[in-house]
Amino acid sequence: MRILLIGATGYLGSVVAEHLSDTGHEVVALTRTPESPSRYAVRPGDLHDPDSLTAAVTSDIDAVINVATPTGDAAVDAAAIDALTAPLRGTDRPFLYTSGVWVLGATGEATAEESSPTNPIPIVGYRPEIERRVLATADHGVRATVLRPGIIHGRGGGIPALLVEWARKQGAPRIVADLNVRWPMVHIEDLADLFGKVVQDAPAGSIWHGVAQPAVPVRELALAAAEAAGVHGEVQLWPLDQAQGELGEPFADALALDQSVDGRKAQDQLGWRPQQPDAVTDVSKGSYR
Ligand SMILES: NC(=O)c1ccc[n+]([C@@H]2O[C@H](COP(=O)([O-])OP(=O)(O)OC[C@H]3O[C@@H](n4cnc5c(N)ncnc54)[C@H](OP(=O)(O)O)[C@@H]3O)[C@@H](O)[C@H]2O)c1
Repeated sequence: MRILLIGATGYLGSVVAEHLSDTGHEVVALTRTPESPSRYAVRPGDLHDPDSLTAAVTSDIDAVINVATPTGDAAVDAAAIDALTAPLRGTDRPFLYTSGVWVLGATGEATAEESSPTNPIPIVGYRPEIERRVLATADHGVRATVLRPGIIHGRGGGIPALLVEWARKQGAPRIVADLNVRWPMVHIEDLADLFGKVVQDAPAGSIWHGVAQPAVPVRELALAAAEAAGVHGEVQLWPLDQAQGELGEPFADALALDQSVDGRKAQDQLGWRPQQPDAVTDVSKGSYR
């Protein structure tokens, strides 16, 4: 397929682009900086400019994947979805929107599935509305899907890289707010593989959790991060108000979110088989050293 990818320069998008390209697809990167060197064909575009988005979805584009970060403005993001999906209406071409598990909120004792109600924390406050807007296009002949990754690890990047940085700075493992927090985790290469499966095979109107490990104790991740940083010591608790002061309230609250999220639907229905090292092994002995 010739796939228009929004966000191909990002942490996740760059690996998705690589995977799609390696598995025989042609990637066309929509970018705000078309003059920058790219190994893919590029088209200019910006989520703030709906006309640029519609213009990029030409009839030779077989599928569209949005892996960009949201703009922070609900109206802008809604207009971007409308602009990207307008040319796909009535064609059954795929549109994959990347959301995230934070839309599920704190899960408590339960393990959230794709059918669980959303309960977004402030950092992703309007994202469920965007998900609904995407999925509603399935009624208009778009093979629209939503993929919600867990916290991504791999290639030494993403949120776990922060844990390593904090450990290095503090000389000890450090976590925000609560020793009992758990994060749903996924390796970036496994997740990229799931993007390929969803865009290829998932039915219109479906939601998928990109989660290989439902609930990894952040305490274990912090200890792994300290090992990668070459430091030892007891886990330090970073009080929420202090973390909020440094990281901003929405992001600090997100890091303190306790979740258990089920990713088995993609394994059962799309044949997804996560094969990469688990998060603690990757952080302590793999790509974060
Ligand atoms: N990282 C995680 O653990 C995680 C977990 C769950 C969900 N997600 C979701 O996955 C997506 C990608 O995350 P990431 O960690 O890869 O983020 P990232 O590294 O910050 O990459 C963001 C990408 O979005 C593009 N972008 C930003 N604003 C844009 C705009 N106005 N118009 C066009 N493109 C724009 C950026 O392009 P430029 O090169 O032009 O800046 C970049 O390619 C996000 O939706 C995020 O919420 C991430």
